[in-house]
Amino acid sequence: MSRCPGPLKQTLPCTVTGCRALTEEIFSLACTWQGPPPRAGQFFLLKPQRSSVFLGRPLSVAHYTPPSDQSGLGQLTFSLAARGEGTWELAGLKSGDLLELTGPLGRSWSAVAPEPLEGPVALVGGGIGVVPCVALAAELPPGTFDFYGGFKSRPFGLETLPPKACIIATEDGSQGRRGRILDFLEPARYCRVYACGPEPLLKALAQRCAAQKVPCFISMERPMACGVGACLGCTVQTTGGNRRCCVDGPVFRAEEVLFYA
Ligand code: FES
Repeated sequence: MSRCPGPLKQTLPCTVTGCRALTEEIFSLACTWQGPPPRAGQFFLLKPQRSSVFLGRPLSVAHYTPPSDQSGLGQLTFSLAARGEGTWELAGLKSGDLLELTGPLGRSWSAVAPEPLEGPVALVGGGIGVVPCVALAAELPPGTFDFYGGFKSRPFGLETLPPKACIIATEDGSQGRRGRILDFLEPARYCRVYACGPEPLLKALAQRCAAQKVPCFISMERPMACGVGACLGCTVQTTGGNRRCCVDGPVFRAEEVLFYA
């Protein structure tokens, strides 16, 4: 594994095309993009052009629409949980506001877990962790996956998924099945499992997949500063030593991750 910083990525000015609340603290933010197309599982650093914070916030791509005309402008959509000054700034943006985007960054699902697939797969998202899983669903052939979404309460971000493929669980029982999403998943039914969410969920899922010999791929979350492998502030401990979430991940094989939780 290379320890040198990853290649410098493009930072481009972009224009916000929409920002709306999905729940009290979850927002969908859309903007123009004329750089390289991202793959599902990659992320960008986002920073409003007028900002009181120094660093961009890392957000997974929820959806990418390529350019459809000579303008060369595609559209990126992100979902974000507003939980600090930087993310509340992003949540408050309006159409026409300017943003700086750096990316696409990190290793995609397909870079870590290449196709072909030999059977159906399970996509498992917990909370805001549904975002990279929904992006992956858009890259998979219809009918080849089941989507498991776990939420504390009201679900969000699942509009683009085929309803028949969705198993939803909420801890308060307000929608879908009452309970935790792993209560309703049997990994052995699938040839591969992909997941993103809170670390205890990922750890429990990794253990079950290992016990049932089902390959499992997870997208990890860490605080990020540079996003390009230079600051070493996003360490993920693995069986192969410390790795940088921003360039060696965020997608890892579950069996190699040493979990904190
Ligand atoms: S090394 Fe700086 S954010 Fe990963």
